[in-house]
Amino acid sequence: MPPPESETILYSAEEIQARVRAIARAIDADHQTEVPLHVVGVLKGSFVFAADLIRAMQTPLTLDFIVIASYLDGATSSGEIQLLKDLDSAIEGRPVLIVEDIVDTGRTLHYLHAVLQARGPSSLKTACLLSKPSRRAVDVPVDYVGFEIDDRFVVGYGLDHAEQFRHLPHIAVIEPPAAPPR
Ligand code: PRP
Repeated sequence: MPPPESETILYSAEEIQARVRAIARAIDADHQTEVPLHVVGVLKGSFVFAADLIRAMQTPLTLDFIVIASYLDGATSSGEIQLLKDLDSAIEGRPVLIVEDIVDTGRTLHYLHAVLQARGPSSLKTACLLSKPSRRAVDVPVDYVGFEIDDRFVVGYGLDHAEQFRHLPHIAVIEPPAAPPR
């Protein structure tokens, strides 16, 4: 596993916190009712972003988590997605905010949007810290985006490589191992 010294910092902890505060302000401004916003974190990656985001928000809210698994078919990445842990509460008639760490192909968010929209929330919005527009395979709406990034492998602030590095306070790029000299 590449140690942290081989990483390149893409966004510092301070830069991330500034964006998180800006997103929180935008959500607060858009959510002007007394009905609590039901915030849905998508585990595991979103747990750090969700924790910081809700503490920066002023609007009344309730918190829930969902767990999904993706099974890619390797050749086309068009695999299926399965719900491993559902929401704890019903969302019919309630405003809902999905919180994701990253939108890559968009398939996960597309699936979640369809599943949650079918339950009749009064509104359904999405906040994601990172987005890779060049990787998008499915057109999916994202209402609040922290940073749009190129197609690089990023870790930290909840994002992992083989389950490591989620604890880093910054976001770093891990380059694939260089080919050995010939
Ligand atoms: C990541 C991320 C999103 C999904 C985005 O989850 O948290 O849920 O991939 O990819 P997509 O746009 O191509 O669908 P991952 O499967 O890495 O699990 P994790 O959250 O537990 O790290």
